[in-house]
Amino acid sequence: MSDPAASGRGGGGIRAVVFDAYGTLFDVHAAMQRHADRLPPDWERISAEWRNKQLEYTWVRSLMGSGHHRSFWQVTQDALAFVAAGHGITDPAVLNLLRDAYWRLPAFPDAAPALQALRGQGLQTAILSNGDPAMLDAAVQAGGLAPLLDAVLSVEDVGVFKPDPRVYALMTRRFGVAPAQVAFVSSNAWDAQAAAAFGARVFWCNRKGQPDEYGLSGVATAISGLDALPNLLQ
Ligand code: LAC
Repeated sequence: MSDPAASGRGGGGIRAVVFDAYGTLFDVHAAMQRHADRLPPDWERISAEWRNKQLEYTWVRSLMGSGHHRSFWQVTQDALAFVAAGHGITDPAVLNLLRDAYWRLPAFPDAAPALQALRGQGLQTAILSNGDPAMLDAAVQAGGLAPLLDAVLSVEDVGVFKPDPRVYALMTRRFGVAPAQVAFVSSNAWDAQAAAAFGARVFWCNRKGQPDEYGLSGVATAISGLDALPNLLQ
């Protein structure tokens, strides 16, 4: 007897659609883009370095153990300080503008319509993010997404960053469902891989056509934008 809810791929059984925040719903590169006129011409590369260093700090802190956890806002600032210093961005006013902009990152244009359509299909929607609650609240408000979300789940509830499995368990705990009844959507391949390992049905939002990694094509459905989700989850 095959149970579509337990199979985790194809068929129905999905009750909640949970989104990664930074890079998936919100454009992390918009902070430097907004202040590009005050930055070196290769700001896009610097912004990518900021993002990579930010993620590196999350992984290192999680591996070091619970006493070393810091908020995502703290590691975001630490990463900016390191990367900015390396590129000669030293003006405190510019650094303040960048930090401020990170709290008001725009939502990708396909985010609100996808959330709205999914809720119209009777699905619950949520964010699951490394972000701490205050940052997430600010981003959700700035992006106008608050009325379209049933829950905003932060790693701060477990004190460890993605991809620790305790983070993904926040989804099933919140909605009272099995992992296979959750669709998880992330633009970060490593995050998508971890959610698949947890047992969720996973959509890899590969906006930039990145090559497959982690063998993700075997365990996740690749989409080029969030607008594909409502049809795939009908
Ligand atoms: C997040 C990071 C991984 O929002 O983008 O959790």
